[in-house]
Amino acid sequence: MTKTIPAEVVEHLRNAVRVAVLTGAGVSAESGLPTFRQAQTGLWSHYDPTELATPEAFLRNPRLVWDWYAYRRRMAREAHPNPAHYALVTLEQHAANFTLITQNIDGLHRRAGSQSILELHGNLERIRRFDSGTDVETWDDDGQTPPRCPQTGELLRPSVVWFGEALPQQELRMAYSVAEQSDLFLAVGTSALVQPAASLPLIAKRAGAYVIEINPEETSLSVIADCCFRGKAGVVLPILVRQAFGETEEAVG
Ligand code: APR
Repeated sequence: MTKTIPAEVVEHLRNAVRVAVLTGAGVSAESGLPTFRQAQTGLWSHYDPTELATPEAFLRNPRLVWDWYAYRRRMAREAHPNPAHYALVTLEQHAANFTLITQNIDGLHRRAGSQSILELHGNLERIRRFDSGTDVETWDDDGQTPPRCPQTGELLRPSVVWFGEALPQQELRMAYSVAEQSDLFLAVGTSALVQPAASLPLIAKRAGAYVIEINPEETSLSVIADCCFRGKAGVVLPILVRQAFGETEEAVG
């Protein structure tokens, strides 16, 4: 990325009082996790994720959907946060108020050290009962896939938001409120194709926030952003944070 950082961007990073960040799969791309709309790899290459991530797909073939998420959980656990995740930790440490709103279910933001996180689409590490929707902490790994709840016998499923399902209401309400109150909003690594997350930057813009987009490709947000960086999150974010605060937390392990 050769673009110098405009002075106004550095000023907004330094002087913002309420910073909101929306991340998508692009933030985890440099950790080796494929983005949602990137071609699936390996044995999953002949499945369309949007056809697996639905309640109907799970009821049609519980084992297939469970195994796909078990595969993604293994990949997430083997992945490591990248410089983009760590730069967001540093930004959080410098901002007066900071909220990270993520569509990602891989848990890498928390592993990098981010504190104030709203997981709009759930988390691969959380499992819940299919019928009642309540999370379970443990289950018998008796080789049955998907496993059943030892108390109620219900099928267990990943505690993530599938297509056609409602987002967690508390997190969504908080995300709307954070977007409305932000004076700096960064949209990083998201195609801005999936609602309601994609509307958050627009809400922030209408409320007067300075909006920055970081994405190698143009998206529907690009036209409303005050500044677009056509680059990788793992490259751009550390540069922004270093220019604004003189540091960025390197990977710590
Ligand atoms: N740095 C920044 N952005 C990147 C990088 C990178 N290194 N690599 C790819 N991108 C961008 C792509 O250009 C794309 O715009 O990341 C975006 C990823 O888009 P999607 O795969 O659509 O992922 P996301 O926006 O998170 O999808 C939103 O939709 O499929 C559902 O629930 C799923 O949470 C997901 C939601």
